[in-house]
Amino acid sequence: MTTRTCLIVVLAAGEGTRMRNSRPKVLHTIGGRSLIAHVLAVAGTIGARVAVVVGPGQEAVVEAARAVMPDAEFYLQHERRGTAHAVLAAKAALARGAEDVVVVFADTPLITPQTIARLRGALAAGAGVAVLGFRPANPSGYGRLVVDSDGRLLAIREEKDASPAERAIGLCNAGLMALAGDLAPAILQRIRDDNAKREFYLTDAVAVARAMGADAVALETEEDEVRGVNTQSQLAEADAVLQRRLRAAAHEVGVTMVAPDTVYLCADTKLGRDVTIEPYVVFGPGVTVEDGALIRSFCHLEGAHVGRGAQVGPFARLRPGTNLEADVHVGNFVEVKEARLEAGAKANHLAYIGDARVGAGANIGAGTITCNYDGVAKHLTEIGKDAFIGSNSALVAPVKIGDGAYVASGSVITSDVPADSLAFGRARQVVKEGLATRLRSVLRAGKKKP
Ligand code: UD1
Ligand code: MG
Repeated sequence: MTTRTCLIVVLAAGEGTRMRNSRPKVLHTIGGRSLIAHVLAVAGTIGARVAVVVGPGQEAVVEAARAVMPDAEFYLQHERRGTAHAVLAAKAALARGAEDVVVVFADTPLITPQTIARLRGALAAGAGVAVLGFRPANPSGYGRLVVDSDGRLLAIREEKDASPAERAIGLCNAGLMALAGDLAPAILQRIRDDNAKREFYLTDAVAVARAMGADAVALETEEDEVRGVNTQSQLAEADAVLQRRLRAAAHEVGVTMVAPDTVYLCADTKLGRDVTIEPYVVFGPGVTVEDGALIRSFCHLEGAHVGRGAQVGPFARLRPGTNLEADVHVGNFVEVKEARLEAGAKANHLAYIGDARVGAGANIGAGTITCNYDGVAKHLTEIGKDAFIGSNSALVAPVKIGDGAYVASGSVITSDVPADSLAFGRARQVVKEGLATRLRSVLRAGKKKP
């Protein structure tokens, strides 16, 4: 771990029209987290100062970035005039000085802290500029790294400005660049817009640094780490890479996935040891699953905590605010929202439990609904320890069912049920012997008439 000070400049300006929708490009998500939030999460592990460069009208980007990194600094690039121009928008951040300046693109979400550390290592070893290279299957559109016979990096040529010989180079610019902090302002100031796009290219930092007598080096990485997102299909490809990484990390901590390719994970999904996940499960943001829990097929979980040894699904939906304590069972077609089910409680079939507390060992029968919403406000249902809620009951909140109480099947419960009581909230059954036979003959006689 280096002790050198570091400034990370995140370039996020630009409208991203090739996504063909109205959302700013860097707010698209993979693994439940926006592209820019992924990059900021990596920056956050480095302990660096972070400057984010945005374009005009990108308040939503600023808001999203601030939510995940409150102490980031923001700079506005008034006009999109190239990547070097964008870095200079954060001139004030550069002026405050840092030994290392690292430039990352907000649309390149899969970069790792290890790679940033490698680039910074090259600066510590004396380079003025360190560039990340990769060998893409299809190099079209990328800048090419021009290297001499001794392997020294001489320049980066953007494709539009490249000669046919330069276009034949397979080693491309990934976009990640580290500059020695004491040289960075001078290098950036000297970059000109004398190229096909009339832009100030950050890539020219290499030739400029060389002309100033500084050394420039290229390091290589895998294509998967530097996949940039410019289109919807590249977004999907980046997500596929992330999913493979997340599943591998889950395997590392002892999670069993019967069909890993069918499990969708979020970047913040936390899975314990001996957790088993059956095929076709979707994890939204904010889910923790404790050791030994079983998530059966076709479940959708979001903002939920699943306790040790709990069993969920198949076909269960856990919405934000769900807290299942140890050994809880939530079965098929059960939806839980903003509710705590205490140890050993069971809701095995067809239920809605919203805004509720369900005591330890309580049993919620099939078809039970907490009627939590009156059209204006949400209200709480409290169910005591070891209570038994008969099937097809509607619990009209706010309402309390005491410990050990019984609610008869088909009840509509509108007032509190004390502990150990039995509550009936339904019409009494009436039986008239023989009346079915009479009724049938009356009905049949009626049908014969014209
Ligand atoms: C850039 C590199 C290219 C590299 C490729 C890797 C330059 C000149 N070219 O090309 O060598 O192979 O990335 O993906 O650097 N941005 C701004 N302001 C601007 C221009 C860009 O903030 O004025 C930001 C964009 O939001 C984006 C990043 O900089 O996050 C890269 O810009 P983009 O236009 O995508 O550059 P590429 O043409 O992909
Ligand atoms: Mg790009």
